[in-house]
Amino acid sequence: MAEFTVTPWEVTGEIDYEELVERFGTSRIDENLINRISKYAEPHFMLRRGIFYSHRDFDRTLSDYEKGKPFYLYTGRGPSGMTHLGHIMPWLFTKWMQDVFDAELYFQITDDEKFLFKDELTLEKAREYAYENILDIIALGFDPKKTHIFLDTEYIHNLYPIALRVAKRITFSTVRAVFGLQNSSNIGKIFYTGMQSAPAFLGSELSGEPINCVVPCGIDQDPHFRVTRDVAPFLGYPKTTMIYCKLLPSLLGGDKMSSSVPESTIYTTDTPKQVKKKIGKAFTGGAVSVEEQRKNGGNPDVCMVYHYLRYIFEPDDEKLKKVYDECMAGERLCGQCKMELTGKINRFLEKHQEKREEAKEMLEDFILRD
Ligand code: TRP
Repeated sequence: MAEFTVTPWEVTGEIDYEELVERFGTSRIDENLINRISKYAEPHFMLRRGIFYSHRDFDRTLSDYEKGKPFYLYTGRGPSGMTHLGHIMPWLFTKWMQDVFDAELYFQITDDEKFLFKDELTLEKAREYAYENILDIIALGFDPKKTHIFLDTEYIHNLYPIALRVAKRITFSTVRAVFGLQNSSNIGKIFYTGMQSAPAFLGSELSGEPINCVVPCGIDQDPHFRVTRDVAPFLGYPKTTMIYCKLLPSLLGGDKMSSSVPESTIYTTDTPKQVKKKIGKAFTGGAVSVEEQRKNGGNPDVCMVYHYLRYIFEPDDEKLKKVYDECMAGERLCGQCKMELTGKINRFLEKHQEKREEAKEMLEDFILRD
């Protein structure tokens, strides 16, 4: 079995997502659960395609919901740079959850986390990225009445009492083991997980009664939320419900999408030309020559152009299958796929960038302040 690691701060090797479910002890989102969701809406393509593929307690929360107990959503963003498609992917799903379940959403921006964990990042720069990232969140069309975005350093007055109660229940040896900290780690890192737990209880705190909290996010965040769930009953809160996705792979192939390699992903602020260039260089499942591909077909399973369609840009299952089948049969070459994907991304970004501009006037409708 190939070696791989997945932590909130580091992903190395080729991720085996099935094995990760075993390692972390999460549950699979199975047909049964998807059927239950289909009572409320046509299940999102990310559910149908196994992109949001794992959960903790979503079945229980759905049963509560069926009995008339609402839940709220919580997700977050560590502002270490500009927003790229890998960030947008789970946010699109979160927006769908908000619409379908008519849920409040708390969106944490962890400028503190990125300051503590990125050697070269200043607090000022982290805050600058925070506001850039918030524009992208707003541009996705979240409901301003139901969406509450906050920076940790700015909303600390409300978060700190909750983070403290969490922190008192967690030992140093737990944090060291769960997050791999060392004696040389700065002490802010030890406390940080308490800050990421806080919004999981914020909705209950603000309303004065226990409310279920559902967190859609990448499965790499599970170590934090294992801690959150362990302490919840001691603080009188329901255990946090998790719904986990796979990570959007790198355009260059492999699971590592590194911010230090700009060609590995597409930023929401990229120009049409940059997009064309990046997709042009993407790793595909094409054969060594056109003749060979016509004869033997390509391999969509390893193709990043295909995966970007599957993860985000082709919501229609039938159309996606057609691309897959045509590729396998050698009827479709990489150039055509790249051109189609480039067109789809650029149409998305053109609209997104407009909405991102408009969002500058809407910041205060979304930002939660003390
Ligand atoms: N730690 C996350 C990151 O590095 C940010 C974050 C905070 C988050 N709270 C969250 C992500 C809740 C998902 C869900 O990006």
